[in-house]
Formats: sequence, structure tokens, C-alpha cells
Amino acid sequence: MATVKFYGNEPVPLEMHKVRIVQKLNLPPVERRLEKMTEAGNNTFLLRNDDIFLDMLTDSGVNAMSDRQQAAMMVADDSYAGSATYSRLEHQLRDIFGMHYFLPTHQGRACEHILAKVLVSPGKAVPMNYHFTTTKAHITLQGGVVEELVSDAGLEVVSVNPFKGNMDIGKLRATIEKYGPEGIAFVRMESGTNLIGGQPFSLQNLADVSNVCKENGIPLVLDASLLADNLYFNKTREEHCKSLSIREITRRTADLCDVIYFSARKLGCARGGGICVRDQALFEKMRPLVPLYEGFLTYGGMSVREMEALAVGLEETMDEEMINQGPQFIAYMVDQLQERGVPVITPAGGLGCHVDAGRFIDHIPQAQYPAGALAAALYIASGIRGMERGTLSEQREPDGREIFANMELVRLAMPRRVFTLSQVKYAVDRLAWLYDNRKLIGGLQFIEEPEVLRFFYGRLKPVSDWQNKLVAKFREDFGDSL
Ligand code: F0G
Repeated sequence: MATVKFYGNEPVPLEMHKVRIVQKLNLPPVERRLEKMTEAGNNTFLLRNDDIFLDMLTDSGVNAMSDRQQAAMMVADDSYAGSATYSRLEHQLRDIFGMHYFLPTHQGRACEHILAKVLVSPGKAVPMNYHFTTTKAHITLQGGVVEELVSDAGLEVVSVNPFKGNMDIGKLRATIEKYGPEGIAFVRMESGTNLIGGQPFSLQNLADVSNVCKENGIPLVLDASLLADNLYFNKTREEHCKSLSIREITRRTADLCDVIYFSARKLGCARGGGICVRDQALFEKMRPLVPLYEGFLTYGGMSVREMEALAVGLEETMDEEMINQGPQFIAYMVDQLQERGVPVITPAGGLGCHVDAGRFIDHIPQAQYPAGALAAALYIASGIRGMERGTLSEQREPDGREIFANMELVRLAMPRRVFTLSQVKYAVDRLAWLYDNRKLIGGLQFIEEPEVLRFFYGRLKPVSDWQNKLVAKFREDFGDSL
């Protein structure tokens, strides 16, 4: 825990680092933002970075590296096979997770591809606390069935439950009963559960899940992409973890699992990914797929420079002062928005601040993608790029019916150590303005709809001319401001 206390009334999150490299930002005027949003088909994925002021699309691959990570990149050992850099990374992973085997991949979804190919077959179920888009796609491509068993609290947008990412143990037992242990490919726990607002699970819950898996001989797989946030919440919210170091909590977490995979675009503030495995036989089954799909076994699609940065980044993840900035900034943003009445997911989680579009613009039906509409409106109002995490991010049923998401969220990711507190305050200000003018926001409809992962490159248009009205109101309220 950051131990700095404030003498004044308004404590603020305090960065335990200083900024030594900066990048100039550009904030185009509101009329141009509307033009750019239209060109991007109202899909924030299709905006160009030059037209964006604060890029809160994701924390993936855009976290700020430390000076030590940058320095390590300069001494990377460039060789196709057997590089010393790879050995350093492998050693680091063994040291923190205590699993002997490691398979490198180019990013997180590649791990999901390999795990699904080896462990999932048609009709087999994969119970998990909650799905992630790419995880679900890989499992269903193999003919598997995703069973979401998050505790009921996980889907309550407003809550004081500190561990909304917990799995419901009763539901897990019932699912194993339904499919039989042999009908379950593996159980997956996602740390810092992404799609429900970066919500953590408790170490106790993971232990309970692990016990049920062991009783039934089912492997437990941890998606550790957002582990850093989960560790911080274990330490700060879970009584029996308060006296443990982050490294100790990490090892206790790992000891409960059979496989740990991660996106190094998040965990370790670099780019890449990998699978840590305890069991030799399982390792040997997955191993041939790495040279086939990723790259040779000592790089798996990662550059040696990224592997060096990752090895250092993983070590830095064990330092509480290196991982607390994200969750503390997010908590600040959530508090400030709540004070202004803007509906957000509570309690504050990791990854980013999640605005509840379902309540923000409750006049827009789910079939008109409220979260997508709010993400478009926010870009127009502020130059801030967020990400739709609602019905647009779902995939239609084979017969064409929409699957309405459990939650309609706009995620404003907080890349680690990238934004300043004044930039966060600007985001809060523009969101508050938008909330006061929410009745001006209208829905969206598809003009081009891809069949798979449509949110990445689908194009939409507003159902009425609401966006022009929003720009006019902006000019009325803000004059000639950007
Ligand atoms: N698992 C989780 C929990 C993730 O959040 C992600 C990526 C992946 C797996 C896939 O990893 O991108 O390296 O292939 N999340 C990014 C995001 C895309 O923006 O939340 P990847």
C-alpha cells in the first residue's frame, strides 16, 4: 500500500515514478471529431491515433515501460534458437510462478488457440468465471461450450462486493454434474475479469475452485493477463493477504493452478504472451503447436527485445508500488464520476473505468447498441477513445438473432503510468457534460457487419442526426474551446 498520507482534505493518488519521455498529443476541434467518427463508421477501433487526444481504448501493449525495461531491451541476445534472453525470461517465470515448463507465444489469444486445440473437443464444456471475447471464439471454434459461472454479484453493476470476479462454487459443482468430469475440458479463471469491469477474484475463491477441480481430476487454467490488478486487490481487500507480499500472493495463486497463460501486452508491460505448465505430458502435447503457429520454441513470435522487457516487467510486477498506480487512478476516476452522478461500475476495478451505458442512456434499446453510441458520443465530445463492451462485442446466434450482452459498458482503459491526473480530470469533466446532455444521444445501426468479432471492424451509422445536434450543443456550451 502506498503509505503517503495527506495533510489536506483531498487525498489524491500519488505516482511513485517520474516521467522522463513524453509524446505530444493532438486534440482536433469538435467538428473534425464528428467527421473522423463518421469516417470510422462509429467504431472507435477504426479511428486513427493522430485524431485522438486520450487513447483509452485499451491497456494492451500501450503501458509505459520503466527505464529498466528500456535498458534491458538494449542488451537483448538476438538469435533464432537458444537465445540467452529467452533463458532469462524462462527463469523469471519459473521463479515467480514455480511452474517448470514455458511456451512462448506472440500474444494472449495465441495461448488460447493452443490450449483450445489441445484440450477442447466438440461438446466439451469449459466452465469459467466469465468469458473474454477471444477466449470464447477459440473455444467455440473447437466445438466447445463456454459455461459462465461468475457469482451473481459479478453481474450487478452497482455493488460493494470486493470480489465480483469470484466463481460460484455451487454452479461449478452443478456444471460438473451436468457434463460429468470427463465432459469438462478445463476450468478457466480469469484474473481481473475483463468484461465485467476488471473485477478481481479472491485468493480464497481460487482455492475453493482449485479444490473442486482436484476432486474431479479437472485441470485449472488461469488467465493471468490482468493478474497485476488482481494481486493488488487481493492484497488490499482480502484480510488474510494483507500481511503477504505481492510475490507471496503470486506464488499462492500459481500453486493452485495447473496452467497459467497470459497476454504480455498487459502482464509485464511489454508485448507477447506465454503459457506456463506444471505437467510434462500436457506441455509435450502443446509444444508442437508453438513452432507451427508462433515461431521457434525460444521466441514464439516475440522479439528478443520484448522478451527482455517482459522479464524485467514481470519482476517489477512483484513490486506493489509499480502496480498500484493503475487501480488507484481508476478508483479516483470512478469516485469523481460518481460524485457527478455519472453511472459507473462499482466497486472500481482494474484495467479501466467502466461507464454503465445501460443506465447512462436508458432511452436507447439494446438493439441500437447503447454502449457503442456512448463511445461514439464521448469521442465527439472529448477526443477520448473508449471501447464498446456490450452487445456490439457479442456475436449473433447462428440464426441471426442478436445476443444482448449482460452489461452495456464503455470501457475507459487506464494504460499503466501513461496519463496524468489532469487528463483524468478532463475525462471526468467531458463525461459529466455528456451525462447532463444524454437525451441528445441516439442509437446506432450497422452498415457493414462482419460475422466474427464484428466489433473490431464493423461499421455503423447513427439512427438519426443526433450527432450534429450534439456538436451544436457543444459549441453552445463551450464556445470556441477544443
Ligand atoms: N485474456 C484477457 C483477459 C484479455 O484481456 C485479453 C486481451 C486476452 C486474453 C487476449 O490477449 O490481446 O494479447 O491476444 N485483452 C485486450 C483488451 C485485447 O483490450 O482488453 P491478446
